[in-house]
Amino acid sequence: MTKPIDLAASVRSIVDYPKPGIIFRDITTLLGDAVVFRQAVDELVRPYTGLGVDKIAGIEARGFILGGALAHQLSAGFVPIRKKGKLPHETVRIAYSLEYGVDEMEMHVDAVKPGEKVILTDDLIATGGTAEGAVKLLRQQGAEIVSACFVIDLPELGGRRKLEALGVEVRTLMEFE
Ligand code: PRP
Ligand code: ADE
Repeated sequence: MTKPIDLAASVRSIVDYPKPGIIFRDITTLLGDAVVFRQAVDELVRPYTGLGVDKIAGIEARGFILGGALAHQLSAGFVPIRKKGKLPHETVRIAYSLEYGVDEMEMHVDAVKPGEKVILTDDLIATGGTAEGAVKLLRQQGAEIVSACFVIDLPELGGRRKLEALGVEVRTLMEFE
């Protein structure tokens, strides 16, 4: 059997980006390695195989990369959740806060149908403000959130707890301080 890869070793850490005091966990190094990227996607997908998931909702921007791969592997549709003003059709919008600021996100009003089973994905969960906003948007439109998955958890920032308090199962591949 081939040796499992240490996925965390493929994440690059950039100190004081985008602001002093933040250590930015950069997954482009993980994505750029074909073997590591495949393993990460395989590990994210494994618990969801056979659950009959209808859609993967990916959060702009890095959630699009993972979400497309997950949707393909699970034969599900893909829903983009975007920063405001980027989507062409009628949208639903919500304000949210994140580790280093505030913003608004949008989803097309018809992106999910009531009762559809959706998995939310992004590269990283920090304070959970972004994912919480996405969960609220999806639920507003009647989606059933099966789970939320992330490559990276920053547990000290409490995002996992925030989502679990909303009744959302959270799966992650690794943790950083
Ligand atoms: C990052 C990351 C998550 C969010 C997590 O995105 O990709 O979406 O922060 O932070 P939170 O758990 O504290 O909400 P960012 O806002 O940097 O946007 P980008 O993907 O467009 O760079
Ligand atoms: N989003 C919020 N905090 C982050 C961090 N430390 N690294 C990468 N993305 C982030």
